[in-house]
Amino acid sequence: MKIDYKETTNDLLTRIDIHNKYGGKDIDSWMQDILKLQPGIKILDVACGGGKQCVSFHQYLKGNCAITGGDVNQELLAQAALENEKLGNPFTLLPLDFDKPFPFEDNTFDLVSCCFAIYSSDIPFTIREIHRVLKPGGRIFTTGPMPDNKKVFYDIIKEATGKPIPPMPGSSRYSSEIYGAIKDTFASVDTEIFENPLTFSQTAPFIAYTRASLAEDRRLWTSLFADSAEFEQVMQQIFRVADEWQKRDGSLVMTKVVGGFIGTK
Ligand SMILES: C[S@@+](CC[C@H](N)C(=O)[O-])C[C@H]1O[C@@H](n2cnc3c(N)ncnc32)[C@H](O)[C@@H]1O
Repeated sequence: MKIDYKETTNDLLTRIDIHNKYGGKDIDSWMQDILKLQPGIKILDVACGGGKQCVSFHQYLKGNCAITGGDVNQELLAQAALENEKLGNPFTLLPLDFDKPFPFEDNTFDLVSCCFAIYSSDIPFTIREIHRVLKPGGRIFTTGPMPDNKKVFYDIIKEATGKPIPPMPGSSRYSSEIYGAIKDTFASVDTEIFENPLTFSQTAPFIAYTRASLAEDRRLWTSLFADSAEFEQVMQQIFRVADEWQKRDGSLVMTKVVGGFIGTK
């Protein structure tokens, strides 16, 4: 059965917008504080999406760097190209599939970032490719959800549907399999934690976030709904529970718990 949902780009941009509006902290500032990038470096952003991290690196280094962004999704690359144009086209943007060999020579980059995306089918392969294209002493930087991430979001969905949350590739693999692959491949790894409470004093933006999450990850949530009509029913059930919790507690606080792994080659 064909399931007709919103576009991935809209869903990703909706979630980024909600993080910005309802989160108390700025993840880009956290990223720049822990990375302390030096001017003149070469950066590859793997799974760059709409270009969020490319723009942040460019602004932090005041353009004194060479940034390449790659993604498998043409629509998101087109979005990144719009951001690139606004800045005078400082980025090189290209199609890149992290399940395939990267189109770069060994020892090319000082930093390879991969934010909220490193869920390839063969994690050790992707990590080895990142390691290969990094210069000696170069760094990998990844971000992803830690086990306590968005507890309220999952608890509301569990109560609303009476069903278990299907395994999420991010939460269930990031701090275990992905951390392990980086540790096995790189000379050293540091872990930094970013906690960002998103406070919703109304139910509507929480529902918008939930809609954009479940729709984007729709293949992961098929144990909860099989088609768009069932998706809408599930969203109504979630709304009822979220609204009850919001009225009971005065607000819904969904805390993002993000792990930043920095590995050095
Ligand atoms: C949650 S988005 C994160 C995008 C961006 N890093 C950000 O934080 O805004 C996940 C990204 O992974 C990309 N992606 C998924 N599979 C991929 C693959 N096989 N190779 C490269 N990128 C992929 C998606 O297209 C999407 O841009």
